[in-house]
Amino acid sequence: MTLRSTDVAVRVDGVKVAFSGRTVLHDFSVELSTGSQYALTGRSGSGKTTLLLLLAGLLTPDEGRVVSSLDRSDVLYVPQAPSLIVELTAAQNASLGLRLRGVPPAEALSRGVEQLRALGLVDADDALPGQLSGGMQQRVALARAMAVRPRLLLADEPTGSLDQATGRLVLDTLIEQAGQEMTLVVATHDPAVAGRFDHHIQLDHGRVA
Ligand SMILES: Nc1ncnc2c1ncn2[C@@H]1O[C@H](COP(=O)(O)OP(=O)(O)OP(=O)(O)O)[C@@H](O)[C@H]1O
Ligand SMILES: [Mg+2]
Repeated sequence: MTLRSTDVAVRVDGVKVAFSGRTVLHDFSVELSTGSQYALTGRSGSGKTTLLLLLAGLLTPDEGRVVSSLDRSDVLYVPQAPSLIVELTAAQNASLGLRLRGVPPAEALSRGVEQLRALGLVDADDALPGQLSGGMQQRVALARAMAVRPRLLLADEPTGSLDQATGRLVLDTLIEQAGQEMTLVVATHDPAVAGRFDHHIQLDHGRVA
């Protein structure tokens, strides 16, 4: 189902999600305003990743519904775990989202590389994922998503495995590029990261705290 109002990017309405009988989200509701940026916090296991998957349309709730005003292709989820194509270089991975959307190879590559630079990756273009650290791989995955300029970007702990300075750069870039157009949700354990956002979704025992 789609939303008529474009002021709301996605609405989660009375959702329940349970895994093997264990309820993770219970009668959970939240609304993402178009162009707003959210920090998503909560203890490990509180359901942050589960909520991101719901918002991305990658998980169907057991009860309730998730309604969106966006096209499926306008929504990108960047997982915390490595998600690169292992046979492709960092630059090729970073440009993959654009290539899949029909952008010509040379332009896709230069935009992908530009995005790698914006995330502080200066000499990794030709490296394969296996030659990169976990934090570098995650930045390549973030570059791949950001290069596409999605309407809704869901980033799962994008600074979790980065040093403080690099984490700040990544966050600055994310927030700056999101601007007024991109709706952004960043799951994080780091209060300093969460503090950068005006809007907070705090999960506690499957509810909004
Ligand atoms: N596919 C699954 N099958 C079974 N249980 C799951 C599945 N996905 C999540 N869970 C359970 O749901 C709960 C919430 O998981 P989730 O990954 O959403 O938490 P999280 O807040 O992202 O945690 P973290 O901060 O550690 O990433 C956990 O208890 C987890 O074990
Ligand atoms: Mg998680």
